[in-house]
Amino acid sequence: MGASQNFDVCVIGAGPGGYVAAIRAAQLGKKTCVIEREYLGGVCLNVGCIPSKAMISASHFLEKMRHDAPEMGIEVKSDIKVNMKKLVGWKQSVSDRMANGVSQLLKGNGVTVIRGEAEFTSPNEISVRSSGDGKGGTTIAAKNFVIATGSRPIEIPGFTIDEKNVLSSTGALALDEVPKKLVVIGGGYIGLEISSYLKKLGSEVIVLEAGGSLLNGVVDRECVQVVERKLKKGGVQVMFNAKAKSYKKSGSQYEVEFESSGKIEKLKCDKILLTVGRRPNSDQTGLKKIGVAMDERGFIKVDAQRRTNLKHIFAIGDIAGQPMLAHKASHEGVLVAEVIGGMNRAYDVKTVPAVVFTDPEIASAGLLESECAGRGYTDLMVSKFPFAANGRAVSLMETDGFVKIIADKKTHVVLGVHMVGPEVSNLISEAALAIEMGARVEDLALTIHPHPTLGEVVMEAAEATLGHAIHVIQKPLSRAESSNGAAATRT
Ligand code: FAD
Ligand code: NAI
Repeated sequence: MGASQNFDVCVIGAGPGGYVAAIRAAQLGKKTCVIEREYLGGVCLNVGCIPSKAMISASHFLEKMRHDAPEMGIEVKSDIKVNMKKLVGWKQSVSDRMANGVSQLLKGNGVTVIRGEAEFTSPNEISVRSSGDGKGGTTIAAKNFVIATGSRPIEIPGFTIDEKNVLSSTGALALDEVPKKLVVIGGGYIGLEISSYLKKLGSEVIVLEAGGSLLNGVVDRECVQVVERKLKKGGVQVMFNAKAKSYKKSGSQYEVEFESSGKIEKLKCDKILLTVGRRPNSDQTGLKKIGVAMDERGFIKVDAQRRTNLKHIFAIGDIAGQPMLAHKASHEGVLVAEVIGGMNRAYDVKTVPAVVFTDPEIASAGLLESECAGRGYTDLMVSKFPFAANGRAVSLMETDGFVKIIADKKTHVVLGVHMVGPEVSNLISEAALAIEMGARVEDLALTIHPHPTLGEVVMEAAEATLGHAIHVIQKPLSRAESSNGAAATRT
């Protein structure tokens, strides 16, 4: 039997939810440990957000070198080659650097890091088994537990992820050879981000999407259309209403069978990428055994303080429900640590901004137009401003896309901002702040934005919503509209 230790706070899982919760709890003077079975930084830093963005940056750079540089007069004399092994090594170094940073931060804040697999043996105690340790390992008792054990890829009948031929995002991110022909099952976040970069690196990519559109229901329809057009222009084939059924070996390739409009069709490829969503890891860690309540999809049920039905056990991040995004996990991490620290906190956000790192990027905060009526907003002001009319975007040769603002016509309060275009991942935070602060469209329009920057598009989209953007031609407002300050509804 191993050692037994006592803590004020025991965090299980060191992803962007767990490691953040542990640091904040330690900052508040709590004796804290974090238990991690695989990698500090979790999915996000090691096999998710960070490595995928490294690959996306590299492929974007390659695309600029190939297509934009010659037009700018930068002559590349020899053919540009991609050394995939070196690229994957560089990607790994980016993840490792971030994970090392997490290790330093935990240490610097006095958090005890325990390596191994945690399992509840009772509501007040867990055992930690390190890999290859059949002896029962360490026992941890704590006043409070934080479950931050994340999620894993969903598998569908007919496809088992082996990370060799049928890949999840983890296998795809580790490929040190570009597959000649790739079939991607699922046109959601992961499928599209990976398709975008593998196509640029040289793969032939076919996306099979079971639904009628990409990123179904999660982002603005018009934003998706811009990305879909560019994907197709770049040579990615997208098939809708195409439900993957099975696959089998066919010579040196694989044959994927899918159902499309009631007919069974077949496609040959070298690799298959399965990205049909992720499921919470709630069937592990002994959670059922101790009676942690879950919903029908396996997400742990939590209240506004992220408490489970067992009052001293909290749950955060992917395991505690949608949206399964790193920044939502980290927000909850700080929140639970402060609740445990005795502070008066609750999860009360107006928006969790979301970004899809396609080409161009899509970013979103607040309500979609389709959601407004359901929240009681029936009279809307909606307008868009294009990146093509922005000097910085033109100088970057990245003019696809727009910023769309949706506001309540009665109060002019900003309800939703949806963007597609260059660097919108960075521009969306201004929109999130506006929505959190209950800003009116005039607040965005009257804030001086530096020139020449992409951020001016947000200001001009606000002006367009009010009917008077300078750098696009808008129909003049009627006298009545301009005198009472009401806005035009124009897109
Ligand atoms: P995780 O990051 O999954 O961490 C959970 C940790 O718990 C893991 O390290 C796991 O090893 C550990 N663990 C599990 N069970 C146990 C146990 N019993 N004992 C000990 N340790 C355990 N989100 C974004 O916001 N932006 C992005 O750009 C983005 N890109 C992504 C790209 C990809 C390819 C993927 C797959 C995901 C991406 N995400 C992105 C989603 C993001 O990674 C997750 O939302 C985020 O990692 C969730 O954080 P978490 O702390 O809840 O869990
Ligand atoms: P997803 O939920 O985004 O998309 C899955 C897609 O697969 C859906 O469009 C669905 O219709 C389709 N599908 C389901 N079954 C199918 C079948 N049999 N055949 C064909 N298509 C099928 O899931 P994904 O891409 O796996 O991502 C999981 C989560 O990870 C995201 O929801 C997001 O929370 C997170 N993530 C976030 C990123 C970001 O913030 N930039 C990047 C990557 C992931």
